[in-house]
Amino acid sequence: MEELDSGGPLRVFRKPDIKEELPLIILKNMVVFPRAMFRLIVKRPQSLKALDFSMKHGRITLAVVQKKETIEVPKEEDFYRTGTVIKIREAIRMPKGGIKVIAEGIVKAKITKISQDKPFFKAKIQPIVEPEPKKTEKIEILMQSVLNRFREAIALGAMVPLDVMLAIVNIRDPQPLVDLVVLNVDFKILQKQRILESQNIEEKLKIVNEALSDQIKILRMAKKIEVETGKELGKMQKEVYLREQLKSIEKELGIAEGKGEMARLEEKIKKSGMPKEVEKNAIKELRRLQRMPSFSPEVSWIRTYLDRMVELPWAKKSKTEINIKMAKKILDEDHYGLEKAKERVLEFLAVQKLVGKIKGSILCFIGPPGTGKTSIGKSIARATGRKFFRMSLGGIHDEAEIRGHRRTYVGALPGRIIQGIANAGTRNPIFMLDEIDKVGKDFRGDPTAALLEALDPEQNFQFSDHYLEVPFDLSDVMFITTGNILDTIPPALKDRMEIIEFPGYTEDEKFHIAKEYLLPKQIEAHGLKDGKNLKLTDTTLRVIIREYTREAGVRNLERSLAAICRKVAKKITEGRVKTFIIKETKLKKFLGPARFRLIETEKKDEVGVATGMAWTQAGGEIILVEATKMPGKGKLILTGHMGKVMQESAQAAFSYVKSRAKNLGLDEKTFNRIDVHVHVPSGAIPKDGPSAGIAMAVALASCFTKKTVRRKVAMTGEITLRGRILEIGGIKEKVLAAHRGQVKTVILPKDNEKDLEELPKNVRQDIKFIFASHVDEVLKVALK
Ligand SMILES: Nc1ncnc2c1ncn2[C@@H]1O[C@H](COP(=O)(O)OP(=O)(O)OP(=O)(O)O)[C@@H](O)[C@H]1O
Ligand SMILES: [Mg+2]
Repeated sequence: MEELDSGGPLRVFRKPDIKEELPLIILKNMVVFPRAMFRLIVKRPQSLKALDFSMKHGRITLAVVQKKETIEVPKEEDFYRTGTVIKIREAIRMPKGGIKVIAEGIVKAKITKISQDKPFFKAKIQPIVEPEPKKTEKIEILMQSVLNRFREAIALGAMVPLDVMLAIVNIRDPQPLVDLVVLNVDFKILQKQRILESQNIEEKLKIVNEALSDQIKILRMAKKIEVETGKELGKMQKEVYLREQLKSIEKELGIAEGKGEMARLEEKIKKSGMPKEVEKNAIKELRRLQRMPSFSPEVSWIRTYLDRMVELPWAKKSKTEINIKMAKKILDEDHYGLEKAKERVLEFLAVQKLVGKIKGSILCFIGPPGTGKTSIGKSIARATGRKFFRMSLGGIHDEAEIRGHRRTYVGALPGRIIQGIANAGTRNPIFMLDEIDKVGKDFRGDPTAALLEALDPEQNFQFSDHYLEVPFDLSDVMFITTGNILDTIPPALKDRMEIIEFPGYTEDEKFHIAKEYLLPKQIEAHGLKDGKNLKLTDTTLRVIIREYTREAGVRNLERSLAAICRKVAKKITEGRVKTFIIKETKLKKFLGPARFRLIETEKKDEVGVATGMAWTQAGGEIILVEATKMPGKGKLILTGHMGKVMQESAQAAFSYVKSRAKNLGLDEKTFNRIDVHVHVPSGAIPKDGPSAGIAMAVALASCFTKKTVRRKVAMTGEITLRGRILEIGGIKEKVLAAHRGQVKTVILPKDNEKDLEELPKNVRQDIKFIFASHVDEVLKVALK
C-alpha cells in the first residue's frame, strides 16, 4: 500500500487582490493592455525601486506610459493617468544591468491620486472594468473594416506572424480583435493610449481603423521607395518574418518540436482511457490550442488544462480483492481492541463484496484524536489492495474548493476532490476526508451540497468539477470521513453516513497498545534493534500512561515513547552503553517531571471539593468543583471559565441547597450574611453544559455542613430546582475519564443506566455505579 498525503491545505489561486495604492512603473515607449502577456526591460533607477517594492508586496504594479519618449526622469505631469495593473510573473536580472520582466496585464485602472513621488511613484488607483460589449450592426461593420484594412496592411508587407494573422481573421468578437491588432501592429503611442483609455468598443474600433490607415500610408510610402531604389526593407526584419513563417509551416506539418509536443499530447489523451465524450472534448480543446497564436494567454490555460486532464486516472485502477478472513487478519494485526469498529468495517466490506460495488452509506469515523481512525483507514487500504489518500476538510467554506473554479479564472484549479484523485493516481483509492466536523458554512457559500454529490454513491458516478467541465466517475472511490464530534457535522451529510464511533481507550487498552504496537513501531523507526537495546518495564509503561499523558487516544503516549527512543538512540551512537532498561524511576531523566500526577490524587478528602466529570472534544476529563463561603450579602460568585449553561446550573444547585437548608441542619438566615464562591479549576478545559449540576450541589452542601466529600466518588447529572436528577450525554467518555483517574465509585442519573452497555467490561468491573434520581441520594453517598 502506498500512502499519499496532501500535506496541508492546498493553495487555490484567486484573482490577485488589487490594493488601492500601488507603485508605478513608468514606461518610455510602450502601452500595455489587460489580457496580454508582455516583456519589458526595466533600467531606470526610479522604476527599479518600484519594481523591487512590488516584488516584495504581491508583485502587482500599475504600468503607465510617459507622454514624451525623450524624458529621462519623468515628473508627476509627464505621464498619462490611465494605465494597466500588471502582475509580474518573472523578473530576471540582466548581465549588463537592468531587469527583464515578464508580466501579465490584469485590469485597466485610473490614477486617482499620486501619493508618493520619491524614491519612486506610488498612486491611489481605481480599477476600471469594462462591460461586455454588445455586438450591434454598427460594430459588425466596423470590425469588417478593421479586418479589411488589416489585410491590406499585410499585403503591403506589415510584419505579423502567420499564426496571428490566422487568429485575427477568425475572431468573432470585437474586444479580442482590438486586443490582438493593437498588440501586433505598430501603432503610435498616442493611438495606443487612446485605445486603452476609451471605454467604448465602437470608439476603440474607430481608433484602430484610423491607426491602421496611418499604417497603410506609411507602408505604401515604404513600398514606393523600395520599388524606386530597388532596395529591400531591413534585412533583419525579413529574416524574422521568414522564420515565423517557417515555424508555422512546420507546425502544420508536425515536424518541429512545437507540433511534436502537440502530437505527444494527443497521444496521451488517447491513451488516458477517458470516456469517449470526454476525449472528444479534450481533442477539441487541443485543436483550439494548435490554432492559437503562441503568445495568447489562453495557450497556457489550455495546456495546463489538458495536462491535468491526461494526468487523471480515468481508467487506472488498483486490483482490489476482498477476502473477509484476510481483511480481519490485517485489521487485527495492525490494531489492538477496537472490536466494534473492526466488526462494522468488516460488515461493510462484506456487503461490498456481495454487491460488487460500493453501495449504501459512507463510513464516518468519529472520536477523539489519536484513537486510531486514520490508522484503521490505512489498514482497510492494505486489506483491500487500494491506495490510500488523506485530505483535510478543516476550514473549507466554499463550494469552489470542493468543485474547483471555472477555467476562465486566473490560475484556476480543479477542486480538492479531483486533485486528490489525481494525487492518488487510481480511480478507486480509499479517500479519507479528515475533519468533516469542521466544514464551515457562511457567506462564502455552502460546501455541503458539493461534498454530498462527491461522496454519495447514488450520484457520484458523474461528479462535475467546474474546472474539468466534464463529469468524472467517483463511484469506485471508497470515501471515509473522520471527525472528532458528531454535533457539528451538517445534517444533510450526517444522514448519508454510517457513523462508527471510536470512543477512546481505557488505561489497560493503552497499555497493550503501547506494549504491542506503539513501542515496537518506534523502536524500529529509530533503528534500535528490538529488545536488545531498549526495554521498558510494564510499570514504566503504566506510569507514562498515567502521569505523562492525559488523553482519550494514544497520540501523546506515542510521542513520549518516540522521545525516549530518540534519546536512547543518541546515547547509543555516542558511545559505551549498549543496553537500556528503563525503570519508572528513570523516566524523569527521559521525559522530565510528570505532568499529571496531582490531578487524580487530590490527596485527601476535603470539605467543599467534589469530583465531577466533563465531556470534551478530546474525550472526557475529571474536573473538581470547589465551593467556599465568606462574609457578604448572599451573592453567588462563579469563576473558572464556565459557559452560560453551566453558570445557570450552578444557580440552580445553589437555590436547591438554600431551599433544603432546614434538612441540612442550617440556619436560613446565614445565607444573607455570606457570599458563596464556586470555582472550577483547570481553566484550559472548556466547560459548559448542565451536567456538573449535582457535583456543584454536593460541593455547596459540603461547604455549608462542613462534612467532607469522598474524593474517589465522581458524579455527573443535571439538577432541577426541586433536586431531581436528569439524564445527560457523553456517559462513555466521562466514565472512561473517571476510570483513568482511579475513581472507584461513579454516580449517574437513573435514566442513564442504559448507557452502561457501551462500556468495556473491565471498566464495568472496576467501578461501582450508583444510579440516582434525586440529589438527596447523592449526598448520602458522596458526603462522609
Ligand atoms: N487500537 C490501536 N492499536 C494500535 N495502534 C493504534 C491503535 N489506535 C491508535 N493507534 C496508533 O496511534 C496513532 C494515532 O492514531 P491515528 O492517527 O489513527 O489517530 P486518529 O484517530 O486518526 O486521530 P485524529 O483525530 O487526530 O486524526 C497511530 O500511530 C496509530 O497507529
Ligand atoms: Mg486522523
